Amino acid sequence: MYRSAVFNEPLIKELGTSVKRDDKKIKSLDILPDSLRRKEKLNLPNIDETQIVRHFLRLSQMNYGIDTGVYPLGSCTMKYNPKICEEIARWDNFSNIHPCQDVSTCQGNLQIIFELERMLCELTGMDYFSLQPAAGAQGEFLGMLLTRAYYENKNDKKRNEVILPDTAHGTNPSSVTMAGYKLIEIPSTKDGTVDLNILEKILSEKTACFMLTNPNTLGIFESDILEISKLVHDAGALLYYDGANMNAIMGKARPGDMGFDIVHLNLHKTFATPHGGGGPGSGPVGVKTKLEKFLPVPRIGKTKKGFIIDYDAPDSIGKIKSFYGNFSVILKAYIYILLMGGNGLKESSEIAVLNSNYMKKKLLDSGKYDMPFKELRKHEFVLSCEKLKQKKEIRAFDIAKRLLDYGFHPPTIYFPLIVKEALMIEPTESESKEDLDRYINALIKIADEKPEIIKNAPNNTSVKCVDEVGATKNPVLTWNMI
Ligand SMILES: Cc1ncc(COP(=O)(O)O)c(C=O)c1O
Repeated sequence: MYRSAVFNEPLIKELGTSVKRDDKKIKSLDILPDSLRRKEKLNLPNIDETQIVRHFLRLSQMNYGIDTGVYPLGSCTMKYNPKICEEIARWDNFSNIHPCQDVSTCQGNLQIIFELERMLCELTGMDYFSLQPAAGAQGEFLGMLLTRAYYENKNDKKRNEVILPDTAHGTNPSSVTMAGYKLIEIPSTKDGTVDLNILEKILSEKTACFMLTNPNTLGIFESDILEISKLVHDAGALLYYDGANMNAIMGKARPGDMGFDIVHLNLHKTFATPHGGGGPGSGPVGVKTKLEKFLPVPRIGKTKKGFIIDYDAPDSIGKIKSFYGNFSVILKAYIYILLMGGNGLKESSEIAVLNSNYMKKKLLDSGKYDMPFKELRKHEFVLSCEKLKQKKEIRAFDIAKRLLDYGFHPPTIYFPLIVKEALMIEPTESESKEDLDRYINALIKIADEKPEIIKNAPNNTSVKCVDEVGATKNPVLTWNMI
């Protein structure tokens, strides 16, 4: 059985050393004029390099990441992040640039942004991209602002509704609402896909956009997409592609060819840049030509004299984020795409789908879990623990915590909302058959364990089973650093 390292590690503020900092020496190195110098002492811990290294290494050993083991967090595409991308991103030419420096001094960086935009156009079948948004959710929000600009430009004031299927990721309704649109959610069919009859009835001259993820969050490919696209466009509305699930179809199918007008991608998932814990991310948005003039400024252009930062776009919605997006994430995605090549990206999608279907089949054959929608899946699938809940009062949440004792990161739980007691598993292409088998076996074994063992998990991790009732009744929300 797995055991994570456990250290009684103090906060860095609580660490001290007998080595005293030589403030005079530091001052003598200080070339700043007095007027710019800090008046108060900098409140930093006085510790040496050895202590810092040990402190962070110990913390990292108590943690779990994709470099530690399997991490099949559904919808999050936790794939292996090649270390070469990290290495290159640290090169001085990339890490020591400033967004305000003269364009003549950062031509190579602008070239990367320019070329990545073209690569994403090729991969998605869109005409133009902006790399400015810092996350998928910000890309969605931008997509909604573009939608609004598009209709305002046509002087069409009626369109104030955005339609979503009930499988949509939670950020979709938030982006719609934040952009000031009325949200309309439609139920899926019993197969877990868009209900064309309902969609047709709901579409009207008030519809601005239909937002869809394909494959959807159940991992099912919406094979009626061309019909969906026709219905939406016949109603005069736009079709938005939430591309967070692009890892399933890279090199196989393109949202632009399916009829989508606006697309966002999650570079920090599909193109292997590390993410989690809130960032950093990158959610580029691609559009068809009719929407190009509304894209955020600046755009990176190419002239005979070199690459330029272009603000000349009178119809642009303005800015969505400072400067040109999260450059280090953009850079890592660019390197990853070059490393993999077109065929490599296609193969990685094929393996991601194969891995997902292998796990799904083995787990369904075990008879321990249910799967409400039994279609062939793409890169992820969703199981239900509803039977276990009824039989043994074991919930998805308990299974997730018990998996930690086996040394595995749990899948996403309770999403999508249309599956009761959902376990959403996305193994990605990174995992070997042996690791997938270990994960499958752990899930099968847990289903047969005694409920009290499962409910008291985890026991083998650095933080054990937490007191949830205590945490709710007496929450400690900040750490007092003083
Ligand atoms: C289907 C889907 N859409 C949108 C998002 C939002 O992306 P981000 O977390 O980068 O904001 C996610 C993230 O998990 C997702 O899975």
